[in-house]
Amino acid sequence: MIKKPKGKLGVLLPGMGAVATTFIAGVIAVRKGLSHPIGSLSQMGTIRLGKRTENRNPKIKDFIELAQLKDMVFGGWDIFEDNVYEAAIHAEVLDKTLLKKIKSDLVKIKPMKAVFDKKYVKKLEGSYVKKGKTKMALANALMKDIDKFKKDNKCDRLVMVWCGSTEIYIKESEVHKTIESFEKGLKENHPDIPPSMIYAYAAIKKGVPYANGAPNLSCDVPALVKLAKKNGVPIGGKDFKTGQTLMKTILAPGLKARSLGIEGWFSTNILGNRDGEVLDDPDNFKTKEVSKLGVLEEILEPEKHPELYKDLYHKVRINYYPPRGDAKEGWDNIDIRGWLNYPMQIKIDFLCRDSILAAPIVLDLAIFLDLANRADMKGIQEWLSFYFKSPQAKKGLQPFHDIFVQMMKLKNTLRHLKGEDLITHLGLDYYD
Ligand SMILES: NC(=O)c1ccc[n+]([C@@H]2O[C@H](COP(=O)([O-])OP(=O)(O)OC[C@H]3O[C@@H](n4cnc5c(N)ncnc54)[C@H](O)[C@@H]3O)[C@@H](O)[C@H]2O)c1
Repeated sequence: MIKKPKGKLGVLLPGMGAVATTFIAGVIAVRKGLSHPIGSLSQMGTIRLGKRTENRNPKIKDFIELAQLKDMVFGGWDIFEDNVYEAAIHAEVLDKTLLKKIKSDLVKIKPMKAVFDKKYVKKLEGSYVKKGKTKMALANALMKDIDKFKKDNKCDRLVMVWCGSTEIYIKESEVHKTIESFEKGLKENHPDIPPSMIYAYAAIKKGVPYANGAPNLSCDVPALVKLAKKNGVPIGGKDFKTGQTLMKTILAPGLKARSLGIEGWFSTNILGNRDGEVLDDPDNFKTKEVSKLGVLEEILEPEKHPELYKDLYHKVRINYYPPRGDAKEGWDNIDIRGWLNYPMQIKIDFLCRDSILAAPIVLDLAIFLDLANRADMKGIQEWLSFYFKSPQAKKGLQPFHDIFVQMMKLKNTLRHLKGEDLITHLGLDYYD
């Protein structure tokens, strides 16, 4: 049974920078009829139901009970006090003419004081930060913010999507193992608990679904997965799948499907937004690198296809280059092998826009996590892997990265929720 989405859905965003403001401004612009929600599967996508001959292909939003854009309200936290209009102007993603048209809506959205520690994001300095003796005290302060936001905005339900900066690389350790060890760590200010985990803990404790758009661990530790299960809260992560990795997970399954070999895949980027500046620090870049590198291995399965992929050399680089701002350029050089091992090359030059690709992902995650919550789904939502570079998977399972497998899983989950037949594309009509 899926509960009806009545009343308002509050979308809480820790980190109100380029991605978050592009998302909020975009939803408001769409609501005013100024544009279309391009890139959002929940708003634009269709779903085939039953046999092909039945011709049933409704839009996803007309098929299943999703929160509507008109019922969304926005809030969040940042280390800078700028309201969403000012932050969007600073991010330089959307043009000023559009932003001016929706200025009155955007200036009203002001961040709450952040839980932040420079140790975890070395390139940032901010003063709009909460004070607290322990990390547990800070988590409690966030929970108070959540309650206040819900009451002030008369929300029926909330979701939280981490859009904050990428934190330094932290490996899973003892403190992350159980709910008890994690709570002890919060009280004792354990260094392996960065701010993003404090937000995730506060959300899950409050029964608020949580998604992590950055590559840092955040809710991807056993203690928080257990807490999410215990409290009946859906969660998902990590790292929005946007530019180069999106292309990789579209292209690699195709090359593998034709049993073409791959010898090397070199990916490099230039970008000049604040995210690029944060990733210019080696400790923060390491977190991103780990998230980006896992993708090919899982898709190509070199252990099963040693002749094709055993020696694959995969390299990923990100270069901070201020003149480009958010308009990133990503180059890929792929050395492939064909019949009788003859070499060929593919070059991709993707002139993309980081936050333009990420904003619809924030929207879909907010909408689908809210659906999951109303359908009593809890813990890791693997059907939302479609949106992540480094999807969280259940313990002992490999995440799947192939975007077409991910989409099939997402749509079949929606069909299942509505009691429709799952689609396997296995119509044995050649026996008819
Ligand atoms: N844009 C994309 O295509 C894309 C893709 C995948 C992942 N991401 C990730 O999404 C995140 C946001 O990207 P962005 O381009 O908006 O970056 P951004 O630098 O413009 O915005 C991040 C914001 O988070 C704030 N912040 C940092 N730590 C915080 C904390 N502890 N609490 C509250 N606020 C905090 C910063 O002040 C900043 O305003 C980054 O982690 C990035 O790696 C972005």
